[in-house]
Amino acid sequence: MADSETIVVIGAGVIGLSTALYIQQYLSPSQSVLLVARDFPSHESINYTSPWAGAHYRPVPGSSPQALREADQAKRTYNYFKRVAADEPAAGVKLIQGIEHLEAPSAEYLDSQGMRKLHAHLDGLRYLTKDEVPAGVKWSVTYGTWVVNSPVYCAHMLRKFILKGGQMKQYTLADVREAFSVTPKVRTVVNCSGLGFEDPKSFIIRGQTCLVRNPVSATITRQNADGTWSFCIPRPLDGGTIIGGTKQPNDWDPNPSSETRARLLANASKWFPFTLESGGQFDVIRDIVGRRPARKGGMRIEVEKLADGKSIVHAYGAGGRGFEISWGVAEDTAGLMLENGLLRAQAAL
Ligand SMILES: Cc1cc2nc3c(=O)[nH]c(=O)nc-3n(C[C@H](O)[C@H](O)[C@H](O)COP(=O)(O)OP(=O)(O)OC[C@H]3O[C@@H](n4cnc5c(N)ncnc54)[C@H](O)[C@@H]3O)c2cc1C
Ligand SMILES: *[C@@H]1O[C@H](CO)[C@@H](O)[C@H](O)[C@H]1NC(C)=O
Ligand SMILES: *[C@@H]1O[C@H](CO)[C@@H](O)[C@H](O)[C@H]1NC(C)=O
Ligand SMILES: *[C@@H]1O[C@H](CO)[C@@H](O)[C@H](O)[C@H]1NC(C)=O
Repeated sequence: MADSETIVVIGAGVIGLSTALYIQQYLSPSQSVLLVARDFPSHESINYTSPWAGAHYRPVPGSSPQALREADQAKRTYNYFKRVAADEPAAGVKLIQGIEHLEAPSAEYLDSQGMRKLHAHLDGLRYLTKDEVPAGVKWSVTYGTWVVNSPVYCAHMLRKFILKGGQMKQYTLADVREAFSVTPKVRTVVNCSGLGFEDPKSFIIRGQTCLVRNPVSATITRQNADGTWSFCIPRPLDGGTIIGGTKQPNDWDPNPSSETRARLLANASKWFPFTLESGGQFDVIRDIVGRRPARKGGMRIEVEKLADGKSIVHAYGAGGRGFEISWGVAEDTAGLMLENGLLRAQAAL
C-alpha cells in the first residue's frame, strides 16, 4: 500500500508495552506498530527497570502539577488493573488488601478532605483508629489494592501485543532519530526509553529490595520516623514476596549491599505478619537492585514535531510509579497522538 506506515515504539518496559498495546486499538488499516528495544521481558539488565519493580498500587497525595497528573493517571490504572486481575489470570495481577502505617505523616496526609478525595476510588477504604494501629504509628489506612508480578506482567503484555499483530526488534539505538530508519516508512516514533541520556532533567533513584519465598497475605507500607519506607509486596503466581526498600537518588551502585539487606529483613520481621514457617527465618531468593527512571517535574508526555511531517512522542521518566500510572500514561500518550492526527480517531476493535 502506498501510504502504509509503521509506528515505532522505543522501549519494552511497562510504559512502552502499555503504550504499544493501547495504540494497537487505534490503528488505521495501513498502520502497524514495531516495538524496538535494547531489552525485552525475560532479559535482565540493571538499566531495564520494569522487571525489578515490586509492584503495588498506593495513592500518593500532593498538590504539585506532577502529583495531580499522576493521581489522575493512577486512578485510571487502578480500574484497568482490576479488570486485568478479573479477566486475565495469567497476567500476574492480584487484588489484595493494602495497609499503610505512617510514623511521621506529612501535612498532606493530615488534610482529611484532600485524602478523602484522593482515596474516593478505592474499594473497601477504612481509616484505622488509634487503638487499632501499632505503636509509633500516627496515621493508618486500609483498602483494596492490587499487586503485580512485574516480570510476568511484562511478558504477558508483550505476548498480547504480538498476538494482536505487533512486531518486535531487539536493537540499541544510539540516538532516538535513528528509530526513523530501523524500518521503512516511519513517520512517528514514541519514546518510552525510561531513562535517557540527553535530558538534563532525568535522573535515577536506586532501589534495593530482597525477594523472599515467605508468603504474606497483604501489601503493607510503613513509613519510618526517619523518613525511610519499609514495604512487603507479595508477587502473584507464586513469585515470592518483595521486601523493600531503599530510595537513593543518583546512586549508581549496581551491587546489592548486604548491610541493607540485613536492615530490610530485620524491619520486615518486626512489622509484617509473616508466617515464619522456616524456623523464624527468611528464605531469600535474591537481592534486587533497580534504577527508577525519574525526571524533575515528572514524566515528559509531549509531541515533538520534526521536519517533513515526522514526530517524536515522548513518554519517559516514570520514576517510582511506572506500573501504577502505566495505563493512564498509555491513554494520555495515545490521546495526544489522536489530537495530532497520528492515529485514527475510532477504536478499531
Ligand atoms: C526496587 C523498585 C521497586 C519499584 N516498585 C514499584 C511499585 O511498587 N509500583 C510501581 O508502579 N513502580 C515501581 N517501581 C518503578 C517502576 O519499576 C518504573 O517506574 C518502571 O519500570 C519504568 O518503566 P519504563 O518502561 O519507563 O522503563 P524501563 O522498564 O527501564 O524500560 C525502558 C525500555 O527502553 C529500552 N531502551 C532504553 N534505551 C534504549 C536505547 N538506546 N535503544 C533501545 N532501547 C532502549 C530498554 O531496553 C527498555 O526496554 C519500582 C522500581 C524499583 C527499582
Ligand atoms: C547502564 O547505563 C549507564 C548509563 O547510561 C551506563 O554507563 C552503563 O554502562 C549501563 N550498564 C549496563 C550493564 O548496560
Ligand atoms: C528520548 O528519551 C530520552 C529519555 O529516555 C531522552 O534522553 C532523549 O533526549 C529523547 N530523545 C529525543 C530525540 O528527544
Ligand atoms: C529500618 O528500621 C530502622 C529503625 O528501626 C530505621 O532506622 C531504618 O532506616 C529502617 N529502614 C529501612 C528501609 O531499612
